[in-house]
Amino acid sequence: MSSDLHPWAETLSALHDQVWTRLIRGVHDRRAAARHPTLATVSADGTPQARTIVLRAADRCAASLRFYTDRHSAKVAELRAQPKASLHIWDNSAHLQMRLLADVSFVMDEDVTAIWASLPEVARHSYGSTPAPGQPLRDALDYQKTPDPAAFIVGVLALQEMDILHLGPQHRRARFSRAKGWQGVWCAP
Ligand SMILES: Cc1cc2nc3c(=O)[nH]c(=O)nc-3n(C[C@H](O)[C@H](O)[C@H](O)COP(=O)(O)O)c2cc1C
Repeated sequence: MSSDLHPWAETLSALHDQVWTRLIRGVHDRRAAARHPTLATVSADGTPQARTIVLRAADRCAASLRFYTDRHSAKVAELRAQPKASLHIWDNSAHLQMRLLADVSFVMDEDVTAIWASLPEVARHSYGSTPAPGQPLRDALDYQKTPDPAAFIVGVLALQEMDILHLGPQHRRARFSRAKGWQGVWCAP
């Protein structure tokens, strides 16, 4: 049966194309669903931890995504101990759930210096604070934002697997993996 509104859901290759279209749109369009994925990590005691991030880059050739963060945040410590993450996006307009499994690394090189230089002052305030993110405060506003290039790092998600669910007249679910050249297989939704 045709998926009416979303003919791209009917073949594995068009579905995979659509995932990348949506991811790339997330980087450039503040209103796109993929602008704000949920990044899930695992803490040292095995507890799942999920939080919203902003998607900053999407490179289909490398099958990688990027986000910016404060190197003193809990997620960085978690990812250094266990460098795997799951990214979750629900794109309501496309009726598409994207669950992306990735190996994560951090870059702190001259590229990052250039990115920092290009950030508007207001954006720099998200990187660097006293005390560090997550530390207890005596009062809600008892902290200072101290924009600090040394606190700014870029997380790189090297995608390994994608689990894609499309809710249409008939639901379709597919898995794509780097190991299989992103060819994809259908699976039961
Ligand atoms: C809309 C929105 C966008 C956010 N974007 C980012 C981001 O790009 N990078 C980031 O480190 N935290 C971002 N945050 C804050 C995180 O969700 C989280 O609260 C913070 O990074 C601390 O997480 P952690 O203690 O798990 O490291 C964002 C939060 C919201 C609500």
